[in-house]
Amino acid sequence: MIDIDPSNRNMEPTLFQISREGRTGYALPEQDTPRYDLGESLGPDLYRDSSPPLPSLSEPQIARHFTRLSQLNFCIDTGFYPLGSCTMKYNPKINDQMAADPDFSNLHPLQDEEDTQGALELMHSLQKYLCEYAGMDEFSLCSLAGAQGEFVGLLLIRAYLESLGQSDRNVILVPDSAHGTNPASATLAGFKTVEIPSNKEGRVDVEQLKAALNDQVAGLMMTNPNTIGLFEKDILEIAEAVHGAGGQLYYDGANLNAIAGVARPGDMGFDVVHINLHKTFSTPHGGGGPGGGPVGVKSHLIPFLPKPHVGKKSDDEFYLNLSSKNSIGSVSGFWGNFGILVRAYVYLRHHGLPGIRNNSEMAVLNANFLKALLADEFPTAFQGTCMHEFVLNLKKADTGDQRAMGVAKRLLDYGVHAPTVYFPLVVPEAAMIEPTESETPETLRKFAAIMKQVRRECIEKPNLIEGAPWETPVRKLDEVTAARSPVLVESL
Ligand SMILES: Cc1ncc(COP(=O)(O)O)c(C=O)c1O
Repeated sequence: MIDIDPSNRNMEPTLFQISREGRTGYALPEQDTPRYDLGESLGPDLYRDSSPPLPSLSEPQIARHFTRLSQLNFCIDTGFYPLGSCTMKYNPKINDQMAADPDFSNLHPLQDEEDTQGALELMHSLQKYLCEYAGMDEFSLCSLAGAQGEFVGLLLIRAYLESLGQSDRNVILVPDSAHGTNPASATLAGFKTVEIPSNKEGRVDVEQLKAALNDQVAGLMMTNPNTIGLFEKDILEIAEAVHGAGGQLYYDGANLNAIAGVARPGDMGFDVVHINLHKTFSTPHGGGGPGGGPVGVKSHLIPFLPKPHVGKKSDDEFYLNLSSKNSIGSVSGFWGNFGILVRAYVYLRHHGLPGIRNNSEMAVLNANFLKALLADEFPTAFQGTCMHEFVLNLKKADTGDQRAMGVAKRLLDYGVHAPTVYFPLVVPEAAMIEPTESETPETLRKFAAIMKQVRRECIEKPNLIEGAPWETPVRKLDEVTAARSPVLVESL
């Protein structure tokens, strides 16, 4: 039967379901080179005995299918995306245009160094720019995400401590407001983690931190501003205490967008940092990658940096250093996500230091403006001026019996992406909002009005909230089943 129900318009059949034998879109020309016979060396079990089961479709069917799927996605180019801790800022299209330039996109990682001098120079310059922004002595571009940057940074700390004969330092301190990847990375890198509680202001409790320092501690991981959106103003005292106890200081740079061009983690005393290029430096973000999590270090950690590392022989000659003997080794294929590095480089060149500084200041201004617009109906978790993001405590807002999840789902019906909810864990019913510098005051006013309308609906029309979202391509999911038993393959 032909389905003409308009409410099913988003549930189009899959390409396999609309396949009709013999239908073609694009056909490859007849092969005009001799068939290469691999002989028996490959083994008969590796040869196909039939064609792969690909669907047969016309070109317009394929174009419509993928265009429709792309339009079902919510993205920064279609709407406001205040997903806290993720810095969903606008990605200027010039970044993509430059990365797609055939002189970059047609390079092969195994090409000779003399053929790839331009790419090496770009990476070398990016290393130097990142050193400037972070206040570090050297950068590695190899890691592919923030979480991988954390893992690499912790391996560097471990290698350094081992070189000092201090391998028994096996504890990493992590504040209770930290992103979940911090303790996970520390565990993967072979450390034990100890949690440091926040104080009443939402910052690291310095006295409790000092009490946790001993000769087992390898280091402290910190995010500054932290995930509550507050600047850790005791950072110099913290750095002195950690270093005094023989530990290293790791900077989770996910929140660098609040301070880039204004303050530098290296000047705060951090020994290792990672930067999420896909946040602060505006490379594509979401859906699991590709990303970039370059790692910066102070000079004592340089010998342990991953391979390859881009070096400079002379003013116009660059090379890949593959032989550093104390390196922790290779952490990704070749030299990282090169296309992402091009995008970050273009963004940095395009803005320059004054532009980057202005972006950070606007990000902080936008967050405080939005916080003030919401303040009469939505209390924040902690008091005071925020940095680039703030966390609402929806338990304190009057939302009847509705929880943060209900508010988040209903926002989708108004065409905005939901804030991050239930993180950080130290705030009950947390909704973490990061507007970024890209947004106009009109967008922020509209979002505040939507939030207030949703709050009224929570009290007056709870069923509307409980069933939300109503207008999205996919309605409310059973999230536990979706996470535990995902159906990833269409059965044919
Ligand atoms: C504070 C913080 N640290 C680390 C990460 C991990 O970064 P990535 O998603 O690039 O692995 C995130 C990601 O959102 C984050 O918000």
